[in-house]
Amino acid sequence: MLAAGSDEGRGPQDERQGERQNAGTGSDLFRDVLALSPMAMGGNLPYRRLCRSFGAQLTCSEMILAHKLVTGGEKPLLRHHPEEDAFGVQLAGKHAEAMAGAARMAADAGARFIDLNFGCPIDLIVKRGSGAALLQRPAKLAEIVRTVREAVPLPLSVKLRLGYSEDKLNVVDLARRCEDAGADALGIHGRTRAQRYRQSARWELIDEAAAAVAIPVLGNGDILTPWDLDRRRGQTRVRSFLVARGALVKPWIFRELLAGEPWYPTVGERWAIMRRFVDLACEHFGDDAKGLGRVERFFLWHCGFWHRYHPWTHDDFLALGDESLLQARTPQAEGDEDTLLLASPAEEDHRRLWRRVLDRDYPGA
Ligand SMILES: Cc1cc2nc3c(=O)[nH]c(=O)nc-3n(C[C@H](O)[C@H](O)[C@H](O)COP(=O)(O)O)c2cc1C
Repeated sequence: MLAAGSDEGRGPQDERQGERQNAGTGSDLFRDVLALSPMAMGGNLPYRRLCRSFGAQLTCSEMILAHKLVTGGEKPLLRHHPEEDAFGVQLAGKHAEAMAGAARMAADAGARFIDLNFGCPIDLIVKRGSGAALLQRPAKLAEIVRTVREAVPLPLSVKLRLGYSEDKLNVVDLARRCEDAGADALGIHGRTRAQRYRQSARWELIDEAAAAVAIPVLGNGDILTPWDLDRRRGQTRVRSFLVARGALVKPWIFRELLAGEPWYPTVGERWAIMRRFVDLACEHFGDDAKGLGRVERFFLWHCGFWHRYHPWTHDDFLALGDESLLQARTPQAEGDEDTLLLASPAEEDHRRLWRRVLDRDYPGA
C-alpha cells in the first residue's frame, strides 16, 4: 500500500518461505502498511476514525479478553465504523478454544483480520497466564495460534515482544513457531515485558526476527516522526509499522509518515482536530447527558497525551542519536497563551480545553 515501501534489504529466503509467499495467504493485508497499534482506551472507535482520516491503513480494536467475549461480555468492543476498511479485532487469552470461539465471533461481526495479543504486560493479565506470560510458553502460544488459524479463514497476525525479560530474548524462536502455526504476520514490539517503556525499542532484534520468517513483520516501538520511519527502514528489512503512543500524541502522525515529512498544524488546526474528535465521539456515544459524560472522559484521557505534542524538528531528532524523542522529555512549550494551554499537563487545564472545545471558543471556530 505504501508507495515508499521497497524490498531492498530483505534477506535470502529459503524454499519454504518462497512457497508461502506465492500461496496468496492473508499476508498481503500486512505488507507495506502503517497501522494504528492496538490500544486499550486509546484505540476507542472515534479515535481510530480520527487516525484513519489522517491515513492509518490498519486499525484494531482495543484488547478483548476471549473468555469474556465467549461468555457474553465485551461485545461493544467488536464494533467498528465502515470508514475503518481494514479493521482487526485483538484477542487475549490462554485457552485455545476460547480464543478460537472469540475469533469466530469477531469474524461474524465483520473484522477484516484477527490479532492475538501475546505482549500485554499488565500484572492482572500476566498473573492469569495470558498476554506476555505466554512468551515463556512457546509451545502453548503456538498451539493457540494454530487453533485460531484453523477456526477462522481471516488474515491472522500475532503481537509479540522481544521476550519476557532481558535474559529470555526468544522472539526469533517465537516468530518461527507462529509462522509454522499459520500466522500471516507478526507485530513485534521491540521491548521485553519486564522493560515496560524504560528503554528505547531495540530494532536490531525486531530485524533479526524479520530475517527468520517470510511473513511480514510490523515493527513497533518509538515511532514519532517521519525521520524515525526513515531510520528504521534504512536499518532493517521491516517495511510495515505499528504506531501507538506517537498516534496518541499527534493523530496526524500518519499524514507525516505517508508524506515522509513533518506537518506542523497551527494552534487553530489543533483546536479543530480536538473538536473533530469530540464530534466523532458524540456520533458514537451520543450527545445526550450520558453520552457527553463518556465523551468528556475520553477527551480528558486523550489530553494526557495531546499535551506532550511539540513541533519537533530534524535537528531535535538528530540531537538524540539513537534514543527516541518519544522516550525523551518534551521540551518546554513557547508561544502564545493557547499554545501554552495546549501544552499543559494540568487536569484543570484539560477541563478548560474541554469546555472551550464544546463551546467552540477557539480561534477559527
Ligand atoms: C494506552 C495504551 C494502551 C495499550 N493497549 C494495548 C493493547 O490493548 N494491546 C496491545 O497489543 N498493545 C497495547 N499497547 C501497546 C502498544 O500497542 C505498543 O505496542 C506500544 O505502546 C509500543 O509502541 P509505541 O512505542 O509506538 O508506543 C498499549 C499502549 C498504550 C500507550
